[in-house]
Amino acid sequence: MTAPVRILTGITTSGTPHLGNYAGAIRPAVAASRQPGTESFYFLADYHALIKVQDPARVQRSTLEIAATWLACGLDPDKVWFYRQSDIPEIPELTWFLTCVAGKGLLNRAHAYKAAVDANTAQGEDADAGVTAGLYMYPVLMAADILAFKAHKVPVGRDQIQHIEMARDFAARFNHTYGEQLVLPEAVIEEQVATLPGLDGRKMSKSYDNTIPLFAPPAQLKKLIASIVTDSRAPGEAKDPDNSHLFTLYRAFATEAQAAEMHAALRGGLAWGEAKQALFELLDGHLAPMRERYEALMAKPAEIEATLQAGAAKARATATPLLRELRAAVGLRPLTAAMAEMPKAKVAKAAQPSFKQYRESDGRFYFKLVHADGRVLVQSEGHASPKDAGQLIARLKAEGAALVHEAEKGLHLAGAVVGRLEDGIELAEVIDSLAAFAEDAA
Ligand code: TRP
Repeated sequence: MTAPVRILTGITTSGTPHLGNYAGAIRPAVAASRQPGTESFYFLADYHALIKVQDPARVQRSTLEIAATWLACGLDPDKVWFYRQSDIPEIPELTWFLTCVAGKGLLNRAHAYKAAVDANTAQGEDADAGVTAGLYMYPVLMAADILAFKAHKVPVGRDQIQHIEMARDFAARFNHTYGEQLVLPEAVIEEQVATLPGLDGRKMSKSYDNTIPLFAPPAQLKKLIASIVTDSRAPGEAKDPDNSHLFTLYRAFATEAQAAEMHAALRGGLAWGEAKQALFELLDGHLAPMRERYEALMAKPAEIEATLQAGAAKARATATPLLRELRAAVGLRPLTAAMAEMPKAKVAKAAQPSFKQYRESDGRFYFKLVHADGRVLVQSEGHASPKDAGQLIARLKAEGAALVHEAEKGLHLAGAVVGRLEDGIELAEVIDSLAAFAEDAA
């Protein structure tokens, strides 16, 4: 069986979801999360929201609405990893690690930051007037979101491609400095995803104030549809559906047969008023069951909170061990380990420490850790099978330098006694030798 492809995307919790968000992001993401062979990590990017929204009530309200929306639209929290960014302390921690390898010059070129600087400059203001460090650091936080979970694919809009490229850059720099730790993600751009027109025909967007809230009550939905701008052709006069955003909206929710029928009806002179009524019925039919689930969820924030807490625990099962490794990799270690790894010249490849496995007359399986110069550093405990011994060796190679602690000359790995240090051997030498395996793997 091939390893599942891990797909990750974040939803900034600012604003109330509208029909355009649904058709462009939520509907395709929920469908994608049902694909076999994938693991979907979908999260509420509330740390990101703080960059734009500094009204606490709005941040909370939006988080609730967006969580309820995704669940109402069919996201199955048992199948996916659905969590809130601010419940994952590993994300801000990784943000700092990445901050320390990220090139400032690269961040200067981020579109959102540059746009702010350009606007300031055009107005004769100081280049950074009103720009927070949060906006500047946006791409680093986003990279941490992705890299903390070793995501392979990140479905995003075109405006976000640059951020994924930056995440790759930060990951590569980190790996170069500290060894192969992070997975380089790829952006996935959904080419045929619907971009819905808003009430005025421009792209549906909060910034144009032309949206249809996804779960507007029927009366409001009807009123909004009635306000969709059309041309002035009278009832009975032939309409041009291909240049009508009313028809574009209709088609985004209709079956092919329904769309063809509406297309013909408009050409045959259907009145705009009747077309609007048909659009209302189509949309309401589509949205009503989800709206009902949404209302039920909104009435029980405690349930959503519990779902998100469970999601955070599930997500941290991936992020916590990774960050433990990253902390060790950058040198944030117990002092016993840190002392051992003072900066050392990269030694020539030739001499390498090694593990030697063998069986004793007691029938048990043992190993020794042998220094590059041939001295035996560690003598292991006996194990029931060669596999047990082999697995320990693998762990020591992968993470031993970080996990090994000395107590009374015994070598402990995550609480268990692994072996004992030979006479005259310092723990520092053991850790140093184990680090050589980690470097080797890199
Ligand atoms: N910046 C993304 C947006 O505005 C939201 C986001 C935050 C995100 N973190 C992410 C998307 C990580 C993908 C992966 O759409």
